[in-house]
Order: sequence, then structure tokens, then C-alpha cells
Amino acid sequence: MVELVLPRGYRLVSLDSVDSTNEEAWRLARAGSAQATLVIWAKAQTVGRGRQGRHWVSKPGNLYCSFLIPARWPTRRAPEIGFVATNAVAETVTAFLPPGCRVLCKWPNDVLVNGGKVAGILLENVTGNAPKADQLILGIGINLTHFPDETRYPATCLLDEGADEADIGTVLQDLAGRVAAGLAAWERKGFGDVRRSWLSRAAGLGAPIEIKLPNETLRGVFRDLDSDGALVLATGESERRVTAGDVSLASPPPI
Ligand code: BTN
Repeated sequence: MVELVLPRGYRLVSLDSVDSTNEEAWRLARAGSAQATLVIWAKAQTVGRGRQGRHWVSKPGNLYCSFLIPARWPTRRAPEIGFVATNAVAETVTAFLPPGCRVLCKWPNDVLVNGGKVAGILLENVTGNAPKADQLILGIGINLTHFPDETRYPATCLLDEGADEADIGTVLQDLAGRVAAGLAAWERKGFGDVRRSWLSRAAGLGAPIEIKLPNETLRGVFRDLDSDGALVLATGESERRVTAGDVSLASPPPI
């Protein structure tokens, strides 16, 4: 790949190695609000981080990037962006895989291929709890050529699922285009289409699942994705809305 072409208004920050592209995005955010969306891409991370404070193994060969997005929306809508991004990742992954692979989204923001986690998203809000978001960090990791051995959930990479070895820059270019298009459509039309598209690929929808919260484990049937991105869990007679937690599927999604 000679030159990476990003969407209008997006600017690339390319690094050989960094502690974490999300951390670099925080540093840039603290240095001042940019008009452009910055795409911070590193070939490797020394302290890659995942959700719930976990480590994200980040050896060369996979995609590690963070979008630092100037935000114009209320902070409470920030989680919707996670679903915009998950749809974009699912589409990118599908574009590089051979036909017939099963690409699903696991709540809230994981992407699975044939039952194995291939990508994760870490959304961080620079604005904290202020009512209006001003910058948002969208960190995305996609396993292209390798994945860690010991994970809580089965993992995989595009190469093992039959994709030709894809140039990382080409994957990033495809992803950035889809993130930009997804965000523009979301800003124009709202969360409805994003929600429907996510639900059309939802792993475990209508099936028993388990959700680990910091102090309890919930069991029930995954009934729906709410209009703000919360997971609706049917537990016997009642329903519970869950806004954060780790989902385990009762049985692996069919391949
Ligand atoms: C998850 O736990 O599923 C989220 C993983 C997010 C990993 C990406 S890799 C690029 C960006 N920088 C980080 O340190 N984390 C995110």
C-alpha cells in the first residue's frame, strides 16, 4: 500500500510503537481540541488496553488504532457510537473474509467470526460526565494475523478464518471510510438504523446468556437492544436493562 487515503476531515498519526493508541489520543486531546478527526495508528502497543482494565496483547501484525473524534452531541449518546463502530468493524471484517464466514456482534462492542472474537472496541470519553461531549476516543483492535492463546472467550484472526494476508493500512483505510460514513449517517438519522443493523448480526439474541457485573452475575434471555444501546435481559417475570458487563453466550453461535 503506497499512500493511505482517509475520509475528508480525517488526519493520520502513524507510529511504529506506542504504549496505547488510546493513551496517545488522550495526550493529543489534552494538548487541545482538534477540528479534524485524528486516526492514531500504531504497528505495535506496549501497554494496549481492553475493556474493564484488561490487557490487549498488541504484537506487530494486527491493527491497533484510535479515532480522536471532535464530538458535537450530548455525552449520554456516546455509547451509540460504540455500536456505529461495531457495525463498521463487522463490515470491514466481512469485506476481507471469504464468503460464508459468520460475522456476528457480541454485546456491546465485540465482533466474532465463526464464534471467535476477532475485534474489540474501547470507547473513552475525554469529557467525563460533562453534559456535552467534546472529544471522544474510539479505540479499535482487529486481529489480522494472530490472537492471544489464553483468553476468557474463544478468539481468532482473519488469517485463520481464510482471509488472504491483508495489508494493515488497507484494512485501516477501509475501516476509516466505514466509521466516517456510519457516523455521518448516525448524526443525520439517529440511532434507529444503527440499532437495527447491529441487531441483524447480534450473537445470542433470543437465547440464554450470562452477564458478569462487578458484584453479581445475571442470567436470562437476551431479548433486545434498547433505544440507547442497553441490553434488555428477560429474567423470569421481569426485564432488566444492562448498560455495562461481560456477556457469555450459553452456547457458541452456530457456524
Ligand atoms: C476489548 O477489550 O475488547 C477492547 C479492546 C480494544 C483494543 C484497542 S487496540 C487500539 C486501542 N488502543 C488500546 O490500548 N486499546 C484499543
